[in-house]
Amino acid sequence: MIIDTHCHLSCNDYDNLEEIIKNMDGIMITSGCNDETNKEVIELINKYDNVYGTIGIHPEEIESLNSESLKYIEENLNNPKVVALGEIGLDYHWTKDNIDIQKDLFEKQLKIALKYNKPVVVHSRDAIQDTYDILKKYKLKGTIHCFSSTLEMAKLFIKLGYKIGVGGTVTFKNSKKIQEIVKQIDLSNILLETDSPYLAPEPLRGTKNVPINTKWVAKKIAELKDIPVDKVIEITNENAIKTFDLKP
Ligand code: NI
Repeated sequence: MIIDTHCHLSCNDYDNLEEIIKNMDGIMITSGCNDETNKEVIELINKYDNVYGTIGIHPEEIESLNSESLKYIEENLNNPKVVALGEIGLDYHWTKDNIDIQKDLFEKQLKIALKYNKPVVVHSRDAIQDTYDILKKYKLKGTIHCFSSTLEMAKLFIKLGYKIGVGGTVTFKNSKKIQEIVKQIDLSNILLETDSPYLAPEPLRGTKNVPINTKWVAKKIAELKDIPVDKVIEITNENAIKTFDLKP
C-alpha cells in the first residue's frame, strides 16, 4: 500500500479513469483547482473508497472565480473524505500582474481552512518568499506540494509545521536541488506525490503520469537516503495518514 498525496484525477485528462484508480495499490488524494474539478473531486471520493480529496481554487484559476466558488468549498469541507483545502497558493511564473488578487484569494482560503480546521495543499511557483510570509501568519499544517525551492526554505516550512511534497521531479537527472533536500531532511517531513497527470517520473518521463507511479518516487528517495524502499513507503504513509487524518 502506497499513498499518492497529490494528483489530479479528471476525466478531462483520462479516458480510463476507472482503470487508473483500480490499478492503484493504495490511496490517492485528488486535488481540485476550480469549480469544475472541485465537483469532480466530490464525485470521485463518494464513489471510490481509496480516493480522498481536497478542494480549492488554484492561483492560475483566478479568472474562473465567481461568487459561488468559495461557498461551494465551505459547503463541502465537512465531507469527512475532503481531507484538506487545496490546491491553493501563489504562482508568479506566468504573470505578476495579479499578485494582489492572488494573495487575497490565498488568504481567504487559508481563513476558511482555519475555520474548518483543515490542512492545506500549497502550490508555490516563483513565489516562495511571499508564500512563506503569508503561511507564517496562520497556524495551519499541510504540504508544500512539488517543492522546488532551497534547503534553507524547506527547513523554514518544516519549522512552520508543513511537509515537503516530493514527486517525479526528484527522479530527473538535472534535479540536484530537490535531491539534496531529500538527503538532508528527515523522512518524517516528506510526503510522496505524483501530481498526475503531470511530471511522470523516470523511467516513464514524458508519459501521462498516474498515481501508481508513486512507487518510482519512493524508489528514488530510498536510493538517495540509502535505505530500503519499504521503509520509505512505511514512514511516508504514516506522515500522510497523520497530516490528512486519513482513515485507511
Ligand atoms: Ni497539482
